[in-house]
Amino acid sequence: MTHKPFLIGPFTQILTLAGLPLKGALKDDQLECLAHAGIRVRAGVIEAVGPFTPMEKQALREGLEVIQITEKAVVAPGWVDAHTHTCFAGSRARDYALRNSGSTYLEIAATGGGIWDTVRQTRKAPESSLEDRIVERCRKFAADGVTTLEIKSGYGLHSEGELKMLRAIEKAGRRTGQDLVATCLAAHMVPRDFSGTPEAYLDSLVNDLLPVVKSEGLAPRVDIFVEESAFTPDQALAYLKKAAAMGFDLTVHADQFTTGGSRVAIQSGARSADHLEASGPKEVQALAESGVIAVALPGASLGLGCGYTPARALLDAGAALAIASDYNPGSAPMGDLIAQASILGASEKLSNAEVLAGVTFRAAAALGLTDRGTLAPGSRADFNIYHTEHYNEITYHQGQLKPHSVWKDGRSILEAKAEGHD
Ligand code: NIG
Ligand code: FE
Repeated sequence: MTHKPFLIGPFTQILTLAGLPLKGALKDDQLECLAHAGIRVRAGVIEAVGPFTPMEKQALREGLEVIQITEKAVVAPGWVDAHTHTCFAGSRARDYALRNSGSTYLEIAATGGGIWDTVRQTRKAPESSLEDRIVERCRKFAADGVTTLEIKSGYGLHSEGELKMLRAIEKAGRRTGQDLVATCLAAHMVPRDFSGTPEAYLDSLVNDLLPVVKSEGLAPRVDIFVEESAFTPDQALAYLKKAAAMGFDLTVHADQFTTGGSRVAIQSGARSADHLEASGPKEVQALAESGVIAVALPGASLGLGCGYTPARALLDAGAALAIASDYNPGSAPMGDLIAQASILGASEKLSNAEVLAGVTFRAAAALGLTDRGTLAPGSRADFNIYHTEHYNEITYHQGQLKPHSVWKDGRSILEAKAEGHD
């Protein structure tokens, strides 16, 4: 397919998200918003952003295609969902019902629910069916304006199952319009059918699984769940050190129910510490002083009916805060990033600048990506066009205002049939 350069506009507002710091609190008046402006794209990358009228004259002089926007429209960067478990089989609706009726995590796990239930179902699913499910779920993410998403393994928990998941993610990535970033979460829990110690299980990953993941280029990142039900901080640190030495980027499921994981993330030099619902002032301060991105997962709080990550405290302390959906069949089955980020904003008193930074360039940074998340020259041409007059409408509708069209690398990957809200 050819990739002809073009100019698109005029937009009522271009919300660039450019020029903002990676860390710390943000005020809405720091947001750059260009009125009656256009975006010029070449080879999937933004070449220029600015006032539409002179850009249009220049484009016409150069014989460039001009895509006219004839309605009120706000354009924002494509959303980045930096933490999902989109590759899985089966449903855990029963867990949800039992939890809401008062059963504990341990009771649910003891009666066949929990992560292990999804492991059993995912192990049974053929790779091609996992691939199809990812592609289908990515269509929904596209309708929500998500142009880059991370997807973890972690429901295989043996080499064969983990590699099947990672290969399904890779193949799905060739079919979806979005960029998929794979993460190996073989250290999600000690599999119930593994007879050795947790250390022996982690060693088996280092010796048998990670070398294949590396040599086949299946995932650039490694994750571990640090929790009483999974791995201790010491076990995690030793594992992550070995994974780093093999050249993997690191991320940690940290401080979800008990603390300890965020310290592991900092000490191992991880890019991000995700969850943090249990983080207290000490953890918040340490994260703020580190180079680790704090990733809030409000979808897990909504799914489990528990408190949110202390996002306000993290930002005020000076941390970098990203917001991701954690889409998974157990704790976060909703998977609507903008709905969740908006609700987190209302609950934690985050400015729109903080919410939107959390799902754009700060989320990209959590994945080690610096080429997206802003509408600025040099960024990938990933953007969402909303048929509305003001960017404040996006969080105001708490996920119900969907983009009219979604662009990835300068190509439209979704055109909505229905109109958005006014
Ligand atoms: O991020 N916390 C651990 N892992 C997932 C839940 C996975 C599951 O319950 O299937 C999470 O919430
Ligand atoms: Fe998760």
